[in-house]
Amino acid sequence: MPSTLVSPSGQKPLSEAAKQFRYDLLTGLNAPTQAIPSKYFYDQRGSALFDQICELQEYYPTRTEAAIMRRHAPMMAACIGDNARLVEYGSGSSLKTRILLDQLNNLDTYLPIDISKEHLHAAARELAAEYPQHAIRPIVGDFTKPLDLPEASSPDMNTCIYFPGSTIGNFTHEEASELLQAMRDTAGQRGSLLIGFDLLKQKDVLEAAYNDRKGITAQFNLNLLSRINRELDAQVNVANFEHKAIFNEQAGRIEMRLRSRCKQSIRIDDQFFQINESDEILTEYSHKYTVEGFSTMADEAGWSCRALWLDPKRYFAVMYLEA
Ligand code: AVJ
Repeated sequence: MPSTLVSPSGQKPLSEAAKQFRYDLLTGLNAPTQAIPSKYFYDQRGSALFDQICELQEYYPTRTEAAIMRRHAPMMAACIGDNARLVEYGSGSSLKTRILLDQLNNLDTYLPIDISKEHLHAAARELAAEYPQHAIRPIVGDFTKPLDLPEASSPDMNTCIYFPGSTIGNFTHEEASELLQAMRDTAGQRGSLLIGFDLLKQKDVLEAAYNDRKGITAQFNLNLLSRINRELDAQVNVANFEHKAIFNEQAGRIEMRLRSRCKQSIRIDDQFFQINESDEILTEYSHKYTVEGFSTMADEAGWSCRALWLDPKRYFAVMYLEA
């Protein structure tokens, strides 16, 4: 039987977004190494869980990056300059952006882009109330796909892309390099990029950050499966899976997986997947960089490093680059 857009149980047709989710999911589960793209973590519940992760004692990246921002935001704002618009990729709750917005007195527009519509609109409403002096234009979208930004209001306007949170770490080196090139094209001739990335460090610090004692990261990972059940015509027994996160030293990245606790079968539409005990589904890469490694990659994508800020422990880096 061909796969149909209306489920066999006669449920209502899927939205375009749900169809894309189903397509990416089935592609990932049919691949030789089973994987689910990590961008699907961020439904409403996943975005809320991610905000909780950012508060965890073990999860150093958010806290460390925010401290770098607080300390150096005036310098960063000076780099961005006047007559600029700030475009944020994967803005979520825009927590770190506030530190920057506080310093950008003559900003033309702030354009937060996020895949999670409700979460983005709620965040944009709050920002608009807090920053009446800034124009806020949220864009619901997937920044890994070609982006059409609104026309700049004047030809001498600078476009600064803000890409914090080490989201770049989710991409393989090849994908990251392509994304940096695409950003270079989107930002244009007078474009700049302010990007945060996580640095290589001791394995135990890294692994603790992705295996917190409260189990929030586990809930975040497992929410992917609950989301499948919520949004698609699917039957996945979430309790039959467990969270796993390890640091792959060779590849310089954290790898998150969902590990099957038993031999089981999961159903999505009319497709059944047989899964053995201890089989694993890859859900996320989180690459850790050296400053040199990152600079080289950015260079090759058409960017030049103009400034770099680190925390005292050298856990995290924020870099300002120009086209
Ligand atoms: C938002 C992608 C940077 O890789 O550290 C947090 C996501 N995953 N805990 C990261 C995440 C598990 C996070 N990024």
